[in-house]
This record gives sequence, structure tokens and C-alpha cells, in this order.
Amino acid sequence: MYRPDGIDNLLMIPGPTPVADEIRAALAAPTIAHTSPGLADVIRRCQEGIRFVAGGPSADVFLFGGAGTLAQEAAVVNLVPPDERLLVASNGYFGDRFVAIGRAHGITVDHLTVDWGESVTPEMLDAALAANGTRAVALTHVETSTGIAAPAADLARVAHDRGALVILDAVCSLGGMPVEMDAWGVDVVLSGAQKALGVPPGMVILALSGAAMDRRRSLGRVNAYYADLLNWEPSMRDPTQYFSTHAVNLFYGLDVALGIIRGEGLDARYARHDALARGFRAGMAALGFDSLTQAPYLAPTMSVLAYPEGVDDLAFRRALGAHGVVAAGCLGPWRGRGVRFGHMGNIDEGTIIRALEGVGRALEDLCVDADPALALHTARAAAEGTPAVR
Ligand SMILES: Cc1ncc(COP(=O)(O)O)c(C=O)c1O
Repeated sequence: MYRPDGIDNLLMIPGPTPVADEIRAALAAPTIAHTSPGLADVIRRCQEGIRFVAGGPSADVFLFGGAGTLAQEAAVVNLVPPDERLLVASNGYFGDRFVAIGRAHGITVDHLTVDWGESVTPEMLDAALAANGTRAVALTHVETSTGIAAPAADLARVAHDRGALVILDAVCSLGGMPVEMDAWGVDVVLSGAQKALGVPPGMVILALSGAAMDRRRSLGRVNAYYADLLNWEPSMRDPTQYFSTHAVNLFYGLDVALGIIRGEGLDARYARHDALARGFRAGMAALGFDSLTQAPYLAPTMSVLAYPEGVDDLAFRRALGAHGVVAAGCLGPWRGRGVRFGHMGNIDEGTIIRALEGVGRALEDLCVDADPALALHTARAAAEGTPAVR
């Protein structure tokens, strides 16, 4: 088999995530014509699956080649014209990206921020909206730089009540925790395929409410061509219509991934993510790694953990890599201070145990005093919700 780096690494970064064998096998199926009726059926099934996972049964779903950043840009450009304001409630690096995107398109951006590791609250958002009357708000559900799961339902309700359209970046949440587009009053859910959905990177996912579609239509021309959703609309309604070549094989992978989600059931899937997050964090705490993220906002899909005293970031991640586990460094003000792990998608307790074993061995290599056996025991117990007994 083709192996780009020659090793069977366990990808524990917060996306892309490990791709299940079933999905990988689907990706390897023969490429069929991008406007064929067979692919159109696959695309329609994927759209229906995204409506299901995003909680928007009547949403218009757009799926095309690109990454999460393009999904963010498409959401902004299709809803906010250059002479209007966009309010960005940012909890870190990827929230800030909305600010850069807005400014790149000549939009006046109001930037609501908090210290890293904390979350913008509904009260803060309400006060900001009362002050400037913005008609669109961008929120990040799980901020991948800080591990914050924002109180998205409450933030969206506040924005909605103030008459603003709500854009929700669900790149690091969709498929790993509840996203309730209609119930929360979200107008655009945007995502990528490479995180909790468990598909390789390369797919833009956008679900738009009726109000968001109306807004797009009311704007006329926007500063986009490939990312102009009105250009995609005929092809998304009837995928045999050409606008730009569909990402054929990625659709196969997404189709199977969404089938796995339906088979597991949303509640069971979210409960699994909660249990694995609990177990992983308990095991890591036993090894001396504490969360940098504020407790009420801990995301179930990933963790950002501070190094124990004296552990060097690069040396640790190199040692961990030598044991076949890949973690991500921190970004921005937390660079060097902590490490980021993903625990989302189609993984199980064995994945968490393998990651913790790797961390234990890496600490041993670095001559850090730790008790890996206790960590594994603690993780298993926490994942089952029972106290650790040695
Ligand atoms: C929350 C969030 N938004 C946006 C992005 C950007 O996605 P991409 O790297 O696929 O462009 C990421 C990437 O990690 C992310 O985690």
C-alpha cells in the first residue's frame, strides 16, 4: 500500500483525524463521471446526511472542493456586502480568521475577543450588538486553538433576537457534538470533512437557512466566483448540472462517513465523544497535563493541555512521534506552553489508550517522573464514569 511517511502513525491532532478503513476503501473506488446520475445520487445522500447532522432538515446544503477556510470565506462573502458590518465573536485563532476574511473583502469588522482559554458570553455579545446594530455575526463552535466549546445555542439566540444572521463555524464540532441549526436559530453552519466526520480534508460543507438564502439573493453580485453560492446552486439542486468538477471520490468517503453516523445514532455518537474526552483528559491529568481551557467550556472533540513543569514542546512531540503518536503544538500565545490533541471522529477507547501509552513512553524517554499504568487505569475508569481503583 502507498504510505507517504512510511509509518502507521496514530493521528491525534485536532484534524485531520484517523480515517476508518470503511471510508478509506470507499475513497479508493473507481472515479466516475462528475455529472453522472450515479454521483448525483451520492451527492444528494450527502446533502441529506449533512441536514441530519447539522439539525437543519430544510437547509440548502452546498458541498464542494476546498477546506474549512474557504467555507468561512464563502459564508462571509455570500451574506455580508462590503458596505455592511460583521461582528466576530472570537475565542482564538480561527475566530480571528473571520476578522481577516471580512477585512480582506472590505467589510467593517467588529471584533469581540476574550483572553485565550475563555469564551465570549451571551451577555458580552448582546452588549456588543446593542451598541452597533450589526446584521451578521460569526461564531466559532469549537475553537481549535483553545479547545473552547462556545455556548453556541445561547450566543446564536442572542444574535437572532437582535435581528442578525448567524454564521456558525462547526469545523471542529460537526459530527462530534450536537449542532442544532434550526433549534438554535443558526443561518449558516459551515464545516470541513476532516475532523469529527472522519473523512480526509478537501471538502467545503455549508448548510444555509431560508433567511440566509434570501440574504444571498438580495445582494446581487458578490466578491466571489467559485465561492459564490448562487453559481453553485443549480449544481447543488441537480448535481448532474456542471458548475465546477465535483470532488468525486471525497463524496464517496463522505457518503460512507454519514452512513456510519446514522448507523451509530447521534446521541450514541455524542455520548461516545463525551466519554472518550473524559477518559483522555483524566489519563493525561494523571500524567501531569492539565487543561488550558476553562472548565465549563471544555470541548468533547479535542483537548489543549499544559505541559508538566520542565517538559519541552518540541522534545515531547518528537518523542511522542517516535512512539507513533502525532499531536499538535499550540498556536499564538500558547505556543510552546501546551499541546493539542484531537479525540473525535470514528475512534474508540483503544485509540485513547494507545495515545496515552505513547505519552507515557515519551515522558519516560524524557526522564519525566510519571506513572503510565495509573494513567491508563484512570482513563478507563473515567471513560466508564466510575472512580479509579488501582
Ligand atoms: C474551527 C476551525 N475553523 C476553521 C478552520 C480552517 O480550516 P482549514 O484548515 O480546513 O482551512 C479550522 C482548521 O483547523 C478550524 O479548526
